[in-house]
Amino acid sequence: MASTFLSPYYFLFCLLLLFSTASPSKTSSLTANLSPTAQAEMLIKGLNLHPKEAVNIRTRDKDSSSLASDGKIVERRFELPVLGDSGSSVQDLGHHAGYYPLPHSHAARMFYFFFDSRNSANDPVVIWLTGGPGCSGSLALFYENGPFHIANNLSLVWNDYGWDQASNLIFVDQPTGTGFSYSTDERDIRHDEQGVSNDLYDFLQAFFAAHPQLVKNDFYITGESYAGHYIPAFAARVQQGNKAKEGIHINLKGFAIGNGLTNPEIQYEAYTDYALNMKLITESDHDNINTMLPECKQGIKQCATKGGDACELALIDCNSIFNEIRDITGNINYYDIRKSCEGPLCYDFSNVETLLNQKKVRDALGVADIEFVSCSSTVYEAMRQDWMKNLAVGIPALLEDGLKVLIYAGEYDLLCNWLGNSRWVNAMRWSGQKRFGTSPTVPFVVAGAKAGLMKSYGPLTFLKVHNAGHMVPMDQPKAALQMLKSWMAGKAAMAGADSETDT
Ligand SMILES: *[C@@H]1O[C@H](CO)[C@@H](O)[C@H](O)[C@H]1NC(C)=O
Repeated sequence: MASTFLSPYYFLFCLLLLFSTASPSKTSSLTANLSPTAQAEMLIKGLNLHPKEAVNIRTRDKDSSSLASDGKIVERRFELPVLGDSGSSVQDLGHHAGYYPLPHSHAARMFYFFFDSRNSANDPVVIWLTGGPGCSGSLALFYENGPFHIANNLSLVWNDYGWDQASNLIFVDQPTGTGFSYSTDERDIRHDEQGVSNDLYDFLQAFFAAHPQLVKNDFYITGESYAGHYIPAFAARVQQGNKAKEGIHINLKGFAIGNGLTNPEIQYEAYTDYALNMKLITESDHDNINTMLPECKQGIKQCATKGGDACELALIDCNSIFNEIRDITGNINYYDIRKSCEGPLCYDFSNVETLLNQKKVRDALGVADIEFVSCSSTVYEAMRQDWMKNLAVGIPALLEDGLKVLIYAGEYDLLCNWLGNSRWVNAMRWSGQKRFGTSPTVPFVVAGAKAGLMKSYGPLTFLKVHNAGHMVPMDQPKAALQMLKSWMAGKAAMAGADSETDT
């Protein structure tokens, strides 16, 4: 009944993550199909990405001593020609790229970009995490919310709606092996949120030690897709470090997840309902496919109690639900159901690889001869026992700590669709659950137009973004920037204000 093969269309972030185990049939074994690595590689090519290596693990003799740093962060300013006007009032606009040797690793170095706010040095510090798992932060930087985008001719052009218009903005390549982040020891590959969040916490400590003037600023964690897993774990790790006075106090104020995968049990159940609502499948398809749900849910429960292999089995069982929908919907772009995939490609992100392989760009960034692995199939595969974990369970404690939580979703994404996200947000048990549930849904207004629908109570906000797919800042850059600004300023500002970015 279900297909046994994932086509390249499904790759991108969430996808990448969700669907590497393509066999939907319970009777087939893991090895009866392409290996997860081969599958991930095929899917990466479907995004028109062609990383030379499956993962950024270098042999020792190839390791460049020029990047040696005695355990310290090494950051450099870079200047790349950017067309247009930054619109900045800040005199000394700093763009930085750096490497940080991760202390709780054998030999890993985390690469990051850091952009001074175009508005004010006092703006919050915001870190962005791209999903995959295994895709570089540079995909978001150059195609979503970075200070500049790549034109077709590879020129950089200022992005009027870059999130550096309102924040001091960090993009990291993580987990280790992704983007320009690398190691000489394959034991540094991460397999779970504990490993991921410890590395991110260590990075933050080093980052703020290197930028002491930013320690007092507000700090926010943001990201997309599989970052729906990373972010709650990372936020909890920061709170834990703060409470134990482990190092520099991180002034964490909240986190935002865009089109994330956070609570798989609820989100997998929502696939058929979303697909039916959007007329992608019929009522009878819906009911047929839903007969697979009990097994998927049971698998997720087993994963929660047993972990390990049980989590891989749950992934297989649950993916059969998605594969059934895919069989019916054909070449629709699952990141944005308004679009179809042309040939093998749904999106074309190849320019980021071309750009980051140019010698002048690599020299400017100080990456020497380190490979750029746009998306790592090895990192993706290494996280497969993490995929079916429910990361929503940690969020109530973070809300009780007073952190602001924003869950947003572009309405035309099937993969990490708004319906599943809305459901888990409503189902989450916390002290404000009832009042959140009965809060009115109100328009999110940008420049006088309705840009979405939102609901909030206390520190928790859910926002459905209109006319957007999986990558909200790419599809609705102006609304996404205002969302960030208003949310950071407080929920009252978010509900009403539409004047700030309206110029
Ligand atoms: C490259 O594209 C940008 C944006 O479309 C344009 O402004 C610029 O003139 C182009 N540069 C060249 C050399 O064609």
